[in-house]
Amino acid sequence: MKQVILYCRAGFEKDCAGEIQDKANTLEVFGFPRVKRNSGYVLFECYTEGDADRLVREIDFQTLIFARQMFAVAASLEELPESDRISPILDALAEQEGVPTCGDLRVETPDTNEAKELLKFCRKFTVPLRQAMRGKGLLYKKDNLKKPVMHLCFVEPGKCYVGYSYANNNSQFFMGIPRLKFPSDAPSRSTLKLEEAFHVFIPKSEWDERLASGMWAVDLGACPGGWTYQLVKRSMFVHAIDNGMMAQSLMDTGQVKHHQADGFKFEPPRKNVTWLVCDMIEKPSRVAQLMGEWIIKGWCKEALFNLKLPMKGRYDEVLQDIENLKTFLKENGIKFTLQAKHLYHDREEITVHVQSHTNLGW
Ligand SMILES: C[S@@+](CC[C@H](N)C(=O)[O-])C[C@H]1O[C@@H](n2cnc3c(N)ncnc32)[C@H](O)[C@@H]1O
Repeated sequence: MKQVILYCRAGFEKDCAGEIQDKANTLEVFGFPRVKRNSGYVLFECYTEGDADRLVREIDFQTLIFARQMFAVAASLEELPESDRISPILDALAEQEGVPTCGDLRVETPDTNEAKELLKFCRKFTVPLRQAMRGKGLLYKKDNLKKPVMHLCFVEPGKCYVGYSYANNNSQFFMGIPRLKFPSDAPSRSTLKLEEAFHVFIPKSEWDERLASGMWAVDLGACPGGWTYQLVKRSMFVHAIDNGMMAQSLMDTGQVKHHQADGFKFEPPRKNVTWLVCDMIEKPSRVAQLMGEWIIKGWCKEALFNLKLPMKGRYDEVLQDIENLKTFLKENGIKFTLQAKHLYHDREEITVHVQSHTNLGW
C-alpha cells in the first residue's frame, strides 16, 4: 500500500498537506501530497510499497493539527456498478496483501456539502457491506473497538477509497467529527468549541477527575459566556474576564464572578485555578506567550485556548507559535503535554491544550 488519505476542513487541504509532508520526511518516507482545493481531504502518495502502513502506524495521530482522520488506502475504486457495488470492493481487498482484520466499519465522506449528500447512501450501504465483509473474514464477527477500523470514503457517487486505520492511532469519531448537540440554553454557539475540545483532548475516563465539580476555572475573553457555560455545567466556579456583558442566566447560577478587566493583566485572586480557557481574538503569538506565563507561574494546571490563524502562511505561523511555547515551557523547567487540533467547530483558528505535570504544591 502506497497511499494515505487524510480528512480535513474544506479549504485547509494545503495546511494538511504541508503537515503530512513534514511528518513523512521526518520518518524518511518519501512521497508527495495530492491536493484538490476545497475537497476536504488530502492523498499522500508514497514512492515505496508498504510505506502507507508505516505512516499510519508511526505518525502519532495526536500530533497532527489539521488532519481529522488518517487511514492507509488499500484500494481506490471508480464507477462502482449500482447493481453490485459490494463485489468489486471485496475483490479489490482480497487482492491486497497486509489489510488487517478489522473490528469496525465506517462508510464516510469528506466533510463538504456535495460529498455529504452521499451520507444517506453511506448509512444504508454500511449494513449489507458489513455483512459481506464479515462473510469474507475482513471484519470480525462482532464489533471490537480495540481492533483496526475499516474505512470507506466516498468522494463521489460510485467512487471511493477503502482502507484501514489503527484504533490506537486514529480519531475515534465517524468522519473524525464528534457529534455534539447545541444546548439550547447556552449563550453562544462557540460553547461547542470548548465541549469538542474536552472530547478530543481529555479521555472520557479522566473527565470525573480532571473536569471535576467544585474546581476553579478562569475564562479569558468570556462574553457572552459560551465557554463559561460548559464549565458551569460541570459544576465548576469561574472567573469570567471580559469588558462585555455575560449572559444573566450564567450570573444567576452564583458560580460565576465577572471581572471587567483586560485578560492580559488579570491575575487570579487565589492560587486554586485548575483550568485556564481563552478565546480572546488576539495575535496568536501573544496568546501563546500569555498561556505559557500562566503555566510557568503555576496559576493553572491545564490551559485550553484558541490561536487565531493568519490569512497567509497558516501552518507555518501555528507551528512557530507552538514551538515557541514549548521552548518557553522547557526553558522554565515545566514538564507538560501539549496537543493542538483544528477542531470541527474551529474555523480560522486552532485549539491548543497544555497540561502541566509540574507539581504546583496545592
Ligand atoms: C470570540 S469572543 C468569546 C466568545 C466566548 N468564548 C463564548 O463562548 O461566548 C471574544 C471575546 O474576547 C474579548 N476580548 C478580546 N480582547 C480581550 C482582552 N484583552 N481582555 C479581555 N477580553 C478580551 C472580547 O470582548 C470578546 O467578548
